[in-house]
Amino acid sequence: MEVKAFEWKNNYLMLLDQRELPEKEVWLELKHYREVAKAIKDMAVRGAPAIGCVAAYGFLLGVRAGEDAESVYHTLQNTRPTAYNLFWALDRMKKAFMKGKDLEEEAKAIEKEDYMANKKMGEIGKELIPKGARILTHCNTGALATAGWGTALGVIRSAHYSGKEIFVWVDETRPYLQGSRLTAWELQKEGIPHKIITDSTAGFLMRKGLVDCVIVGADRITRDYFVANKIGTYSLSVLAKAHGIPFYVVAPKSTFDEKAYGEDSIKIEERSQEEIKNIKGISIAPKESPALHYAFDITPPENITAIITEEGIIKP
Ligand code: MRU
Repeated sequence: MEVKAFEWKNNYLMLLDQRELPEKEVWLELKHYREVAKAIKDMAVRGAPAIGCVAAYGFLLGVRAGEDAESVYHTLQNTRPTAYNLFWALDRMKKAFMKGKDLEEEAKAIEKEDYMANKKMGEIGKELIPKGARILTHCNTGALATAGWGTALGVIRSAHYSGKEIFVWVDETRPYLQGSRLTAWELQKEGIPHKIITDSTAGFLMRKGLVDCVIVGADRITRDYFVANKIGTYSLSVLAKAHGIPFYVVAPKSTFDEKAYGEDSIKIEERSQEEIKNIKGISIAPKESPALHYAFDITPPENITAIITEEGIIKP
């Protein structure tokens, strides 16, 4: 059964609170654009394409309520700085607003197009996956991170449903545990064989010959193919290269920032150190010790075997 991260209900947005997963399935009813902005910032919804879709509905809610379009746009934009889909979707909504287009139709189109792109990437990407492959993935790039199906996890889904008998190593993905909480939850629901590993297990598994390829998503891709993705992605790319293992990135065109060139052009989100020092309100580090929390890192093109998009495969 395929899960959904959000659902537009004609005049409000239902959002599955991903902070509560996998223990509880709590749905939030968002009626105000500021609630949408807060949900993105606090990571009730996360994953670049899902953030973009939800922000589009947030823009619709704000403008419909008679708020100033420019301030709605800025409030939603100032939530998370790295995921390019957020900026892409808001720009598209703003353009639609200026042209007097139907904003509800535009937001729905953004959602539908993302879903279709994911299905297409699944079809294209599964051809790269050998039968019986043991795939390592990082963070959550599935239905929860998109309008449905998923990017990297979408390729994994498509490979599974085409009878490739794949197996998935799921990086737990510190500190938010998007791998162990969300990816494992999605795989479990669909009966796709997998095992959760700590992030630091990847290298040892590769050395033992237990990983056939690495598949990850992306939050922003520059014109020269530097890829920003969940912290830990770069380390995986270095490990994959050292072990001669293919390293694939799966992302729709809405993740490609044509204005960005070179790794310094990407703003990397830094989040609160408390998110590293506490898990679900329980302290796991001395209160006095400082921590550094980069939410993303950047993988250079030379570490990437291929980038799979809905338009085809790019070899950086
Ligand atoms: O901080 P998050 O959970 O929003 O980070 C998500 C990721 O890094 C994903 O890999 C990326 O957004 C691609 S999701 C299809």
